[in-house]
Formats: sequence, C-alpha cells, structure tokens
Amino acid sequence: MALKFITAEEAAEFVNHDDNVGFSGFTPAGCPKAVPGAIAERAEKEHAVGRPFQIGMFTGASTGDLLDGTLARANAIKFRTPYQSNKDLRASLNAHQAHYFDMHLSELAQSLRYGFLGKVDVAIIEAADVTENGEIIPTCGVGISPTICRMADRIIIELNKKHPKEIRGMHDIYEPQDPPLRREIPIYQPSDRIGTPYLKVDPAKIVGIVETDIPNEGGKFAPLDDVTLAIGNNVANFLAGEIKAGRIPVSFLPMQSGVGNVANAVLGAVGANKDIPAFNVYTEVIQDAVIGLMKEGRVKFASGCSLTVSNEVIDEIYGDLTFFKDKILLRPEEISNNPEIARRLGLIAINTALEADIFGNINSTHVLGTKMMNGIGGSGDFTRSSYLSIFTTPSTAKDGKISSFVPMVSHLDHSEHSVKIIVTEYGVADLRGKSPVQRAEEIIDKCVHPDYKPLLREYLAMGIKGHTPQNLNACFAFHEAFATSGDMRNVDWSRQGK
Ligand code: COA
Repeated sequence: MALKFITAEEAAEFVNHDDNVGFSGFTPAGCPKAVPGAIAERAEKEHAVGRPFQIGMFTGASTGDLLDGTLARANAIKFRTPYQSNKDLRASLNAHQAHYFDMHLSELAQSLRYGFLGKVDVAIIEAADVTENGEIIPTCGVGISPTICRMADRIIIELNKKHPKEIRGMHDIYEPQDPPLRREIPIYQPSDRIGTPYLKVDPAKIVGIVETDIPNEGGKFAPLDDVTLAIGNNVANFLAGEIKAGRIPVSFLPMQSGVGNVANAVLGAVGANKDIPAFNVYTEVIQDAVIGLMKEGRVKFASGCSLTVSNEVIDEIYGDLTFFKDKILLRPEEISNNPEIARRLGLIAINTALEADIFGNINSTHVLGTKMMNGIGGSGDFTRSSYLSIFTTPSTAKDGKISSFVPMVSHLDHSEHSVKIIVTEYGVADLRGKSPVQRAEEIIDKCVHPDYKPLLREYLAMGIKGHTPQNLNACFAFHEAFATSGDMRNVDWSRQGK
C-alpha cells in the first residue's frame, strides 16, 4: 500500500470533537510535534463559532509544550492521563478545566486493553521510519505506542527527519497478552531483547504521514548546587556501604532513577563512586548522566522507555550509533516499568519526593495537599516492587519556609510499607526493620533541616498514645502555619489542642 503524505492541517481533520487520541512518546522524547498544533487551531476555530471541540488524551507520560501546552492553551482537552508536567496544563487541571487522573505508568496500556478507559479513536505517532507494510520505527520515546496503534481506528504518522532511520534496532517492542493468558515477561537481564525492533500496524489504518523536522524539546539540567551534590554523594556512599555490608551483591544491581535534576545528580554521583562497580540501568527515562557514564564505561547497558536527554546529547548518540546502539534498548512503558521485572531484577529504585512524613510516607504529587504538580508517574511501579526503594528530597523548599518533612503527609502516594530509605542533603534515614516511632527518630535525626528538628521532636513528644503517635488535631499544623504566615517555622502546636 502506497504511503500517503499529508499536511498537519489535513491530519487534524481526522481528529473529531470528543475523540480519544493516543500520542506516542514518553516525556518530550518521541512525542508528535506538528499535528497537535493543528488540532489546537481547529479547536480554537470551532470554539470561535460556538461549537465544542475537546479530545481525551492518552500519552506515555509528560510531553512537550508543543503537545500538552498547545492543547491546554486552546482549551482542547476533555481528559488527560497518565502524567504531565506542563505549566499551562497544570493550571488548567488544577482549575478543573481538564479532567486529569494520574496513573501508575506501567498500568496504562493494560487499562486501555481491558476497556477501563474507553476507546482509542486516533493514534498519532512520531516515527524515524515507516514502511508500506506498516512497520514503524519509533524515535526516542516509546510510551504506549504499540497498544494505541493496535487499538486505534486511525493512525497518523509524524515522520521526523531529525531522527535517523539507522536507529532501527534500538527499540524492543513487546506487548504482553492479557489474563488469563499472560505468561511471564522473559526479561532476566536488562539487556534481554524480547520483541521486535519496530511497531507493526495494519497499513490500512494509516490515514496519512506528516513530514517534519522539528527538534526534540529537550531541556537542560540545572548546574549542580551544594544541596543536589550532597544528596547525590549521600546516596552513592550509602550504596557503597550496602555493598560492603553484604546487603547488595558485589556485582551490584540494576538502577532505576527518577526524573529531574536531583535524579540526574544522584546517578552522576553513583557513577563517580569507585567503590561501586560499573552497573546496568533498568529505568523509564534515560537522562544525560547515563549517557556520560556510558562513555566512561561506568554504565554498561541502559534499558528504558525514552532517551530524555538534552539536544546536544541526542546529537551525540545519533552521531555515534555504532557505540551506543548495542548499549541502549527502548521499550514500551508496560515493560520498562513492569513490577514483575522490577522485582525479578532486584532494582535499586531512586525517586524524588515533594514531601515526606516522619513515619516514612511519601507525597510525590500534590503541593501542600491540593495542587497537582506532575503525577505519580513510574515512581509507584518501581518503589513498591524494587529490591531497595530510596526517596531523595532537599530537606526544605521555598528558602526554608517549607519543611519537606511534616508530621503527616498532606497527600499519600507511597506508603511507609514501600519506602526503605530517605535521603536529604543532611543524611540517610534507613527505615528498614524499624517501628513507626523508631522511623520518626531516624528521619528527624538524619534528614530533617536543623530549623525543623526541635519542632518535629516536640510533635513526637506530645504524649499521644498509639502505635503511630499521630495527633489528629495537630498533624497538619505545619501546613496551616504556612497557609496563615507563609512559613512553617511559625507553627504553634498549642493552637491545635496540644
Ligand atoms: N511543598 C510545597 N512545594 C514544594 C515542596 C513541598 N514539600 N517541595 C518542593 N516544592 C516545590 C519546589 O519549591 C518547586 O517549586 P517551583 O517550581 O515553584 O520552584 C517545585 O515544588 C518542584 O520542586 P523541585 O525540588 O524543583 O522538584 P524536582 O524537579 O526535583 O521534582 C517531583 C520533584 C516530586 C515534583 C518530581 O520528581 C515528580 O514529579 N515526581 C513524581 C513522578 C516520579 O517520581 N517519576 C519518576 C519515576 S521513574
């Protein structure tokens, strides 16, 4: 079947009001960049003449501003799942303009197949190559592409010339069967290849191909500051100590590392610590630090769902595919984040918390309990199922006016049962084998900022009875102090019925 080339505007005509649209990619890596703008323009034109135009959106994770930002600003989003990190979309969903439900990323593809989330009308896929018999080579992010391509009635391809066809071979595309037919996913080492190097779709469903050469919206990492450096070194020294203590094998275990600056700094510090051997990465986002360490021989292999790297680093990878191609595999998020594999491989999972409580519960998503930041993403997939789950966070936010450690988290994402280690710039709290009170003492001693230590000790000493000594009148007093005075240090326990 001959490939049909169309414009982004023509492609947008295949998307109707109320359609559910699945987008390729994971983070800005691998997302469509041209057609979303054309859909947004269509929405604005329809709105201008008083007609509704909104779509439901399934993506791998966050996307770029050309996708989430453009559609949010056009008020073109009916619902959105499973993860986002765009400022305008964040504002829209916090104002209830777009309905949002954040999900464990490993679950999205199967939830679609199970029919929990409705139909997929259209799939829009960024590709490095496409053939007449329906073989698609994704670019640098896979996300939920295999599932949305198979389920969608119509497929639109964005063929992006910035990504060379020669990346064929860097992907491992595999979709498990659904219960009761599901078997084990046969990955026993991060480098095991189990699927095909391409997505295979019914070519009759491809309604058109839009050619683009829009570069990735790759962000830059902030330079390391004292706090991120200290957190990174604390994690690295802790892991080296675990090897010495015989709790991590001397050959080490595969690492999963979360998103953002802290995660990038932590990986860099682990790579630089010569008491830790060269290691493998089994993660969702492969960030800049991994590629740097790969060049130094400190990272042997990286399996992930996306190459979420800066544009300089993506150019470097594409410029030396002979070196990188047998060291990187990009898989659907159902596989990169799969709890079965995380448990089998024995991952060391390192993710970032917004807020933790002194008993070891973690809030990764809601600022001060109500405002959605990004979403749970893959943090739950890995935290619950890894060999060792670590959370990192600076001890304070907003110039010390907010303590990252509070009596009770204002929103719960990861419970005390899944969290083993917490690390700040001050130290490492090891929560393994400790009761709630012992955990609270460990966290206050090792992780909490000096300004907040006496306040949290006072809270713990309030004489409340019970296995977990929470004072239900006072457990949100830090949050109240911030709301009323702009600084948690002004907390007044007596106002809370101490
Ligand atoms: N209360 C209120 N605000 C807080 C806060 C707290 N306890 N802790 C941090 N903040 C604010 C910061 O001040 C900052 O605000 P700003 O954007 O106005 O500057 C913002 O929240 C982000 O904090 P920052 O320290 O820059 O966070 P980050 O970039 O390291 O990201 C998460 C931290 C938790 C938001 C991010 O890791 C995330 O979304 N995690 C969930 C998903 C996940 O873990 N995915 C990885 C799985 S592989």
